[in-house]
Amino acid sequence: MRPARAKVNLWLNVVGRRADGYHLLDSLIAFTDLADEIEVAPAGDLSLEIVGPGAAALDGDDAADNLVLKAARLLAGRAGVAPRAALRLTKRIPVAAGLGGGSADAAATLRALVDLWRIAMPEEELFDLAASLGADVPMCLAGQPAVATGIGERLAPAPRLPDCAILLVNPGVALPTPAVFRARSGDLSAGLPIGPGWSDLAALAADLARRGNDLTAAAISLQPVVADVLDRLRSSDGIAHVAMSGSGATCFGLYASIEAAQRAASHLPTAWWRHAGRLV
Ligand code: C5P
Repeated sequence: MRPARAKVNLWLNVVGRRADGYHLLDSLIAFTDLADEIEVAPAGDLSLEIVGPGAAALDGDDAADNLVLKAARLLAGRAGVAPRAALRLTKRIPVAAGLGGGSADAAATLRALVDLWRIAMPEEELFDLAASLGADVPMCLAGQPAVATGIGERLAPAPRLPDCAILLVNPGVALPTPAVFRARSGDLSAGLPIGPGWSDLAALAADLARRGNDLTAAAISLQPVVADVLDRLRSSDGIAHVAMSGSGATCFGLYASIEAAQRAASHLPTAWWRHAGRLV
């Protein structure tokens, strides 16, 4: 069993636009204790079973489009092995939510199948393969806090993050990433220099507040409820920082303690999905 961890974009600045329509980013990525799970077993052909609390959200999707199966086929093709494995995905991370769930699943699948199929592939080649699956797959393959640039695939280790608890909140609306990027308007950000690190949560929060998430206004224009989520988090006791992750609609609050995050969670509308946990 391999965890496929949800990522959060602690900040996300859009700093440029490529000729192919992809956007150039500057983003601090961290991972959380919220995770899907990938299990792989030998089999005569390639199959994928999806279980868990988030499985229903994928019902009706074209199975061939699932990034897990795409990752398996791509890896098999590149390594010259037959794509034979029974894959089981336990889905917990909300879908199309700005938490990189699909990318995390694909990255965990690559690692699991490299082991199962005993493939000797240099890390650099595996990262190239990950990038061809999606801009966020390499960061999930790395699985460490990182400053992501390029379209998200160029990774540098992040300064050490102070200990803190995180509350993730999703109001139950899906926001497809391309639509949010298309709806973005306004100037590009300059991208601020990154210091040596943050002494504590207050210092991190002050830095995050200067940078923000440049996709927030676009997400709110498509799903106004995102503004309500941000407001509710902002007014919670003990809140250090509030922002949206990725292209939304999941927002997060940072707190000094897990108790504060859990207390804030208990005051949210019951219809909203939430997870109080830690950065890992
Ligand atoms: O690479 P991925 O398939 O995850 O990207 C989905 C879509 O999100 C892209 O087709 C593009 O519209 C948008 N995107 C972008 N700039 C990025 C990452 C994604 O415009 N850096």
